[in-house]
Formats: sequence, C-alpha cells, structure tokens
Amino acid sequence: MKKTLLLRVNAHQPEIAQIRIAAEFVKKGGLVAFPTETVYGLGASALNSEAVLALFEAKKRPFDNPPIVHIADVREVYKLAKRVPSKAEVLFETFWPGPLTLVLKRSEIVPDVTVAGLDTIAVRMPKNKVALALIRETGCPIAAPSANLAGKPSPTTAEHVSDDLNGRIDAILDGGPTSIGVESTVLDLTCDPPQVLRPGGVSFEELKKVIPDLSLHPFVTAEREISVAEARSPGMRHRHYAPKADIVLVEGALSAVVKEVRELIASGKREGKRVGVLATDETAAKYGADVVKSGGSRFNSDAIALNLFKLLREFDSENVDVIIAEGIPTEGIGLAVMNRLRKASGYNIVKAMQ
Ligand code: TXA
Ligand code: MG
Repeated sequence: MKKTLLLRVNAHQPEIAQIRIAAEFVKKGGLVAFPTETVYGLGASALNSEAVLALFEAKKRPFDNPPIVHIADVREVYKLAKRVPSKAEVLFETFWPGPLTLVLKRSEIVPDVTVAGLDTIAVRMPKNKVALALIRETGCPIAAPSANLAGKPSPTTAEHVSDDLNGRIDAILDGGPTSIGVESTVLDLTCDPPQVLRPGGVSFEELKKVIPDLSLHPFVTAEREISVAEARSPGMRHRHYAPKADIVLVEGALSAVVKEVRELIASGKREGKRVGVLATDETAAKYGADVVKSGGSRFNSDAIALNLFKLLREFDSENVDVIIAEGIPTEGIGLAVMNRLRKASGYNIVKAMQ
C-alpha cells in the first residue's frame, strides 16, 4: 500500500503549489489522478514506459487497452503523431480543448506500452483548468485512462477515485465534480471516412457538421456483444461500467417502457430479489421498487449523462440484486449514455412493445 496524498484545488484557479506537488510525482514516474471535464483521469508520464506500466497495474487494466494521451498545447500532437491530416486540424480548431479524442498514426517517440503495441495513438486536449495546469507544469504529455479500477463505472468525483484507488496511487488532485460525466468521444482519423469508435462528450451531430462523411462504428450503437474481429478499438472488447448488481436495460416508447419496467419489478420481487430502478424525473414516481433513483429529466440528456456513473456507483452501496434501467433517446449525448448503459448491462436489453 502507498500513501495516497489528497490535494484539494480550486477548479477555476488551481493553486500552483498543489499543481507542482502533483507534477513532481508525474515527473518522477508516479501516478496522479486529476479531474478533466468528462471524468477523472489517472495520469502518468506518457513517454516513460515504466510509469505507464505502473498505471496499467494500479487500475488492473488489460495491457492490450491503451490509454488516451493528454496534451495542453496543439503543437504536441505533431510530436506524438506521424501524420496529421488536414481534417484533424479543423477538429483541433473546433473542439479543442474539449471532450474529443483523435486516433492518429503514432510517431517513434511514443513507447510501445503507451499505445499497447498499436501503430496508432489516441490524443486529446482537455478543457479542465486543473488538467491543463498539471500537463503544463509536468512539461510532457500525460497518459490517462479513466481513474477507476478496470470494469467499474468511471469516476466523476475525487471520492470515486479514492474508493477505487486509495493506496494504489501517489496523489489525487480534487478539483470537484466533473462537468460532463461521460468520457470523451473517440474519433479514428486513420480510416476513410473517419469513424467514431466511442460516443462521448462531443455529439455525433456536432462532429458531422465538420466532417459530413463521418461514420459510426457499428459498436457504438450495438445492442449485442461484438466479436473481437470487428473491434477497431481495444476498449470495445472489455466489460465496462458495471456495478455489482445485474442490469436490465429497457428500451422503447416511453409508455411501453414504464409498463415493462413495472412487470420486471414485480417478477424480481416474486423471485425474492432486492430491486433497483434507474428512472427519470418524469417516471420515478411510477415505480414501487426497493430503490428508485432518477438520472434527471428525459428532456435533459446532459443532466442524465452527468449523473449516470455516480448513480451506478450508488446502487452498489444499496445492495440491490438487479437494476432495471430505462433507456433514453439517442440524440446528442444520449447516444453516449445508451452506449454505456448497453455495455454495463452486458447487452441484457429488453425491447418494450406497445
Ligand atoms: O474522457 C476521457 O476520454 C477520459 C478522460 C480521463 O480523458 N479518459 C478515458 O480513457 O476515458 P480510457 O482509457 O478509459 O478510454 C480510452 C479509450 C478506450 O476505449 C481505448 O480502447 C481507446 O480509447 N483507445 C486508446 N488508444 C486507442 C487507439 N490507438 N486506437 C483506438 N482506440 C484507442
Ligand atoms: Mg475507462
């Protein structure tokens, strides 16, 4: 066990003294969790193989799934990537800093372990001030997967990070809760047309305005497990976001969903199970389950995205045996929410019929 230092920082004006302590750890090959606008990341120097190896170990992450490399200055991307297509430059201008990760051909300076032996690299410039200050002060790109134990929901507060990683990492920069709640959109620019590999903080609709021929990897909307051969992104192969309880996801028109959720609650109770429901503001009062939580209004998918991982973690402490989750429309960030819920359910999806 290590001692994990908790460093509180002002999210808007991060205190440089705290940032320096964190940056010193990273420079020496240590591991520091820090907030981004999406979720908390667990950072290590991206150019230090041993540090990145320790990063995989701390979060028990499979070695075939590379982290995203975070930068604070666009010029860094030209050092990390071998070829930067002109489409990428338009995307930097439009979406960086922000929740968009770009997959590019990688350069020779990047250690193999940082990219899990691939010939590509995933790069993003986050918007969060604490993240940017840490990268600048460290003076090198920071490899950072989400700061959770592999398989668990991503952390949106420093407490979530501490619950999973206390004693396994050097420090946590606590800059308060994140503002988006789901991870960045991963866009592959090494194929033509460019393809979204993971939906996230930048919506498909927004990206399509800049790249009209943009495509979605079938996995993004998948309603079943995908085969290894079809997976373009290593992250597609691994189970994710899963709380302890089983999740059943109910999709369809709202009235049919409510009816189906009620039937599932009744059958769960008959089986003697403790039943949780992940509902919305409009429906929560309709359910007589053991635990009912609302992600927010169905008309505000931003709020649902922000609450999603926190609520999945809360269900863990409620000791429910099953969580019945309502689906939401897949417009905007709703696509990212549904992708996470489908994955978290292990594709245990019920289509509610009228
Ligand atoms: O919002 C985010 O993206 C957060 C914050 C911390 O920045 N990070 C995050 O990292 O979600 P992680 O490691 O949990 O997810 C990275 C995703 C994985 O699905 C991984 O497979 C994919 O990016 N990825 C990384 N390198 C890749 C590459 N070269 N080609 C395709 N996919 C890649
Ligand atoms: Mg992750």
